[in-house]
Amino acid sequence: MNTCIKIDRVEKIFKSQEGFDIKALDTINMDVNENDFICIVGPSGCGKSTLLRLISGLENASSGDIYYYNQKLTKPTKDIGMVFQNYSLLPWRTVLDNIGLGLEFEGKPKKEREELSRHFLDIIGMAEFEKAYPYELSGGMQQRVAIARALVNNPKVLLMDEPFGALDAYTRILLQRELLKIWELNKKTILFVTHSVDEAVYLSDKIVVMSNKPGQIKEIIEVNMQRPRDRANPLYGKLTEKLLNMLEE
Ligand SMILES: Nc1ncnc2c1ncn2[C@@H]1O[C@H](COP(=O)(O)OP(=O)(O)O)[C@@H](O)[C@H]1O
Ligand SMILES: [Mg+2]
Repeated sequence: MNTCIKIDRVEKIFKSQEGFDIKALDTINMDVNENDFICIVGPSGCGKSTLLRLISGLENASSGDIYYYNQKLTKPTKDIGMVFQNYSLLPWRTVLDNIGLGLEFEGKPKKEREELSRHFLDIIGMAEFEKAYPYELSGGMQQRVAIARALVNNPKVLLMDEPFGALDAYTRILLQRELLKIWELNKKTILFVTHSVDEAVYLSDKIVVMSNKPGQIKEIIEVNMQRPRDRANPLYGKLTEKLLNMLEE
């Protein structure tokens, strides 16, 4: 198995407004293999978002290194895409133009941009909404667009920060299934932060359990269950309970 991302003794220290050090991440070591689907769970404030931001290259570690295929990561790369929690669509752009945003930054011509964007609009099942504006869409649809916008740049790695957190239970289950399809068909590597233990057990091959103050990796749990996963499987319930207990400790 190829190591895709290596996180080597990474620490992140922020300064509080009063000037104190806040150790958001303490000695994080982790290998992410190619085509892994990893979920990260942990209490609020344990550094989950910080960890994704470091891997995305949006922020740099205070110490330690992150490698992407043996290359030190120091700035954002096209190979690593991010989907944020709050969709972050541009309200003045249509769905199609929101999806094509990254391609526009790259300087791709309009025709090519639109063709590629339409392809991903199709994949997320929203072909008839290309001219709609974000305010005309439900939360679930906006989230689909945000996912398409990340996918259109063809990243090898997809970082997702609680992407389904604001969705109703039904839409959430629907999008979980779609994301698994996309992951399987396109051989992506996914790092997915979630508050939901159920979501982690449903989606991932590995669950990284973090603890708070300072943010550390408490345990990495392998999920050995066939897909599509069956929530009625006793193993499913057992693992969910184990994780809930770990998070309560
Ligand atoms: N830009 C920042 N400046 C100062 N402190 C920050 C900043 N970003 C995050 N933190 C602090 O770092 C810790 C981890 O935050 P975060 O990664 O957002 O946690 P999580 O996503 O797990 O809820 C928290 O204590 C938070 O207050
Ligand atoms: Mg967060």
